[in-house]
Amino acid sequence: MGGHVSEKAASFVQESSEWVRKPRGIDANLKNYGKVYKTFKWKNAEKEFDWHKTKKVNVVHEMIDRHANSARKDKTALHYWDPAPSAGNPRGREEKYTFLDLKDQSSRFGNVLKKFGVKKGDRVAVFLPRTPELYISILGINRLGASPVPLVEAFMEEALFDRLSNSEASAVVTAPALLSRIPFKKLPSLKHLFLAGEKDAAGFECPGGVDAHDYFEEVQSASPSLAPVWLSLDDGLVIHYTSGSTGRSKGVLHRQYAMVGHYQTAKWALDLGDDDVYWCTADPGWVTGTSYGIYGPWTLGISSLVLGGRFSAELWYRAIEKYKVSMWYSAPTAFRLLMSQGKELAKKFNLKSLRHICSVGEPLNPEALRWVRDLTGIAPHETWWMTETGMQIVCNYRSLDFKIGSTGKSFPGTVASIIDDKGREVPPNTLGNLAVKTGWPSMMTEIWGNKEKYDEYFRIKGWYLSGDTAYKDKDGFIWFAGRADDVIKTAGERVGPFEVESALVQHPAVAEAGVIGKPDAVRGQIIKAYISLRQGHSASETLKKEIADFVKRTMAGHAAPREIEFCERVPKTRSGKIMRRVLRAWDQGLPVGDTSTMEE
Ligand code: WT7
Repeated sequence: MGGHVSEKAASFVQESSEWVRKPRGIDANLKNYGKVYKTFKWKNAEKEFDWHKTKKVNVVHEMIDRHANSARKDKTALHYWDPAPSAGNPRGREEKYTFLDLKDQSSRFGNVLKKFGVKKGDRVAVFLPRTPELYISILGINRLGASPVPLVEAFMEEALFDRLSNSEASAVVTAPALLSRIPFKKLPSLKHLFLAGEKDAAGFECPGGVDAHDYFEEVQSASPSLAPVWLSLDDGLVIHYTSGSTGRSKGVLHRQYAMVGHYQTAKWALDLGDDDVYWCTADPGWVTGTSYGIYGPWTLGISSLVLGGRFSAELWYRAIEKYKVSMWYSAPTAFRLLMSQGKELAKKFNLKSLRHICSVGEPLNPEALRWVRDLTGIAPHETWWMTETGMQIVCNYRSLDFKIGSTGKSFPGTVASIIDDKGREVPPNTLGNLAVKTGWPSMMTEIWGNKEKYDEYFRIKGWYLSGDTAYKDKDGFIWFAGRADDVIKTAGERVGPFEVESALVQHPAVAEAGVIGKPDAVRGQIIKAYISLRQGHSASETLKKEIADFVKRTMAGHAAPREIEFCERVPKTRSGKIMRRVLRAWDQGLPVGDTSTMEE
């Protein structure tokens, strides 16, 4: 890793002096960053939770029940809109759920799970399109003290197998249309399926040992009251699968105590308040969609918008106008996609309700930032964090001037810094490892079933190593530079090269495969594969397409290579490790550097 840092140092360090200035006395929840940073203690935030007094812990109480038992009970917690017609809903779906409705619905589903034997500590996967049932299921699972494992709808059989087998989920909430992708026969822990979705999809057969239940029928006949199962602050909250540069995807476990971090960052970085209509565009299959699509906003009692269906620039603008969205949390690729559709389209809609915008997932390039600012009058604020950190760590704040292009400053109660490979903090403007002092509330507590992997992140005592490289300027702003490892970020989604390579080599024509992220103007990076073919297969455009489709069918659309190049041999070290550094150099037409460790 050290080699990487010094390699890149010269090219990344740059000063920008273009500021986004804030009016004095801006009415933000966090008014004086500097002062608060010096004094804030997480203990102060704990007082906001009922468990602080009662000692009874369950996130569903804090985000749903306590609001349902208060003046907020009839406040809309969830606005749901999917205008696309479907067989069961010819006019699309448009629904509203108050906090009281969510209490009722999540209690019903909790009772259903309970009836079929799900209990505290179990893992229950939720593999659904973005529908109200997706949110209600997660709440129901948390209510029972079990851990939800949210999985994006895009996953295909191989990706599902990895995650369901690793988590040993005992139940899956899914839709009939997705069912054929679940490899039941290979999943001995899986006992129950709950089907929430249109029934007219292809018929299905469950193998012996798995029981399928109709979600809607069960929920309807279940009791609407179920007290949360009381937990300890260290009990599980949610498991998100994410990718590293080696090995299969890993299950990142967060604990109940993470809610303190979700709450405080949603208040100070997202700047959410009681009158907001908040729209987090992320799917709960990724961590942004739970930390800031569920736990953060709802512990604060905020009204959230959830948009179903696929991305469409027109639909997105329409949603902001229709729901008068005031706070918008999205990602650079989304901003760039909107940008690519032009300002004319955007100008047809009234976007004046917006008062704050945040961005996450990949660096927000200045051009996209300026474009959004010109359109809405608001500059998107960076938030840097990861699945493993569970909450925002480095941010720009609504009341604080910031430099365009920088990622911002450590959230109060956290210390993000730049350290060298020995754990020494480096001087300003020096590239190094972006690390966080251990002990913030939503720090992951486990890589599911893999202590070794977990310990790797903490190999420097007292620090969590992010795997990102960055530097800090003399004003204390952190500038993201890149990854120190081979993890790919495509359209904000994290993809492990090893997973894609493993899928590729299962194709009969592929002998070896090496996968890298290639810089891309819209998606940040695209997945590029170098492939050597087995004897008897010859390179062709048709074969490239067939191989890419194969990955789409077995893994997921977003994991399929957008570019394939055939090569004689995939470069490897003598010990058999793929030299992705060499592939990146090939791709960019640059010298390959030191190849003394390369196999003959
Ligand atoms: C990686 C984590 C946690 C939110 C969704 C992503 C990159 C994240 C930024 C940012 C530059 C960013 C990093 C990080 N990343 N936010 N503001 N600027 N890069 O979570 O899928 O776990 O990915 O996303 O490389 O390590 P994730």
